[in-house]
Amino acid sequence: MTIRPQDLGDPSFRSDLGLEYNYLSGAMANGIASVELVAAMARTGMLGFFGAAGLSFSRVEDAIRRLKSEIPDKPFGFNLIHSPNEPRHEMAIAELYIREEIRLVEASAFLDLTLPLIHYRLHGIHRDASGNVVTPNRVIGKVSRIEVATKFFSPAPDRFVQDLVKLGKLTPEQARLASEVPVAQDVTAEADSGGHTDNRPAITLVPTIIALRDRLQAKYNYQHSLRVGAAGGISTPASVAAAFMMGAAYVVSGSVNQACVESGSCEMVRKMLAESGQADVAMAPAADMFEMGVKVQVLKRGTMFPMRAQKLYEVYRDFASIEVIPPQEKAQLEKTIFRTSLDEIWNQTKEFFSKRDPEQVTRAEKDPRHKMALVFRWYLGQSSRWANSGEPTRVVDYQIWCGPAMGAFNEWVKGSFLEKPENRKAGVVALNLLHGASQLMQFRISALLGLPQQGVDSPVPMEIEKLRVQSGFAGVPS
Ligand SMILES: Cc1cc2nc3c(=O)[nH]c(=O)nc-3n(C[C@H](O)[C@H](O)[C@H](O)COP(=O)(O)O)c2cc1C
Repeated sequence: MTIRPQDLGDPSFRSDLGLEYNYLSGAMANGIASVELVAAMARTGMLGFFGAAGLSFSRVEDAIRRLKSEIPDKPFGFNLIHSPNEPRHEMAIAELYIREEIRLVEASAFLDLTLPLIHYRLHGIHRDASGNVVTPNRVIGKVSRIEVATKFFSPAPDRFVQDLVKLGKLTPEQARLASEVPVAQDVTAEADSGGHTDNRPAITLVPTIIALRDRLQAKYNYQHSLRVGAAGGISTPASVAAAFMMGAAYVVSGSVNQACVESGSCEMVRKMLAESGQADVAMAPAADMFEMGVKVQVLKRGTMFPMRAQKLYEVYRDFASIEVIPPQEKAQLEKTIFRTSLDEIWNQTKEFFSKRDPEQVTRAEKDPRHKMALVFRWYLGQSSRWANSGEPTRVVDYQIWCGPAMGAFNEWVKGSFLEKPENRKAGVVALNLLHGASQLMQFRISALLGLPQQGVDSPVPMEIEKLRVQSGFAGVPS
C-alpha cells in the first residue's frame, strides 16, 4: 500500500483544473499573494490565487499581464472579493476578469451573491455539440456558513439572470442554461483562518458542508458533481491528512504562505510570523467592514494593532462624530495612533477617495459619522500597508492577518531547515505538507489494518532533493 501526495483528494478536481496536486494557496489581499507566489505554486503543479483585494484596478491589470507572460501554460486564479462599500469596483474587476479571460476566481467575503459574480460565472455559457452545458468561467466559492454555501451550490438566482438578459450580457438561451449549473461547482469550507473568519473548527465545518453538498447534488442532479475543499488551519501534515480523510476534495492554505519568501509582505513580517505561536493571534476590527463591527484574525505578538484598532472601533461606536469625541480622548488618538491631527487625516482621506470613489466624500460631508468611519479606516488601511512595505517607524502598528495555522506550522518545523523564514519557499512548504500527510496516512492506515508498519508517525520537513527522491515529485519549485 502506497499513498502518494499526488493521489490525495478528488482526482476530478486535479484534471478539471490541470493540477498535479490538490493543493491551492488562497488569495491574500494587497498582493501578499503575489505574482511570485502564484507563479511558484503553478511551477510546483499546484494553484495559487492572486491577492487582488485592496489593490487598484491598474495593479490587478498589471498582475494579470505578468502572470500571463510568466506562466503562460499553467493554471492560476484571481480573487473576486465582495466589496459592499465599493460595488462599482467589484463590477469593474469582474468585467476585467471577463475581458482578460481569467478562467478561475476564488470568490470570497460574499454573504449574498451579486450581479458581478453571476455575470462572471455565466459569461460564455453554451451547450456543446454533445449537448453538455459548458461554462468557461469557474468559480470556487470560499465560505464559512452553510447559508452562503447553499447559494454557491445552487443555480444563479433568477433575478440576476434576468437582469443580465436586460443588460444584454446574456441571451435568453444562455439564461435558460443557467438553471443547469451551480454558481460554483467547488466550495471551500473555510474554518478558523487568518483574516476574515467565523472561527469555526474545521472538524465541524467540513463535514457540515460535505453533507450539504450531498443534499444539493441530489436535489439538482448536476452533470458535474459538487465538491468541497478545506481551508483554515492547513499547515501541518496532520491537518492536511485530517482534511483529506474527512473527504475534502482539495486543501487551501493561507497563513503559512504569507511567511514564505515569495509573499508580497516584507522580511520583518516574515520574521515575526516565523516566531509566532498558536495563541499569538487575536480578532481585530476589519478595515473593509469596520462600521458593521466585522473582525479579522491578526497577529498580536510584536504589534499593538489589535488593541489600537479595537479602541478606534469603540470610539466610533460610542460617539456620533469626530467633533463630539472628548478632547482628551481625541488628543490621545492623534498622539499615539494617527501621529497627526484628525483634520490632516481627513484631508488625506478625501484626496484618496476623490480618485477611487468620490461618492464616499460626498456622503461623508453630509454624514459626520461616516466621515469618522473613513478617518478611522485610514489607520486600518495604512497599518496593512506599513506591514507589507516594512515601514520601520510603524512596526508597533503592523496589521498582519494570521491564523493559528502559523503557530502550528512553526511548532512542526522547529529544528528543521524550514524554521528559518529565508528557507520557506511556498512550493517546498506545500510539498512537505502533502508528503508528510501521505506518510502519516500510510502509518495510521497500516496500523489500523494490522499490516506491517509503513509510513511515518511524525513526518519531519525535508529538503527538496530528498523529498524529490522520496515522493517521486518531478517539478522544480523555484
Ligand atoms: C495575510 C492574509 C490575507 C488574506 N487575504 C485574503 C483575501 O484578500 N481574500 C480571500 O479570499 N482570502 C484572504 N485570506 C484567506 C486565505 O486566502 C485563506 O483562505 C486562509 O488564510 C486559510 O486559512 P489559514 O490562514 O488558517 O491557512 C487571507 C489570509 C491571510 C493570512
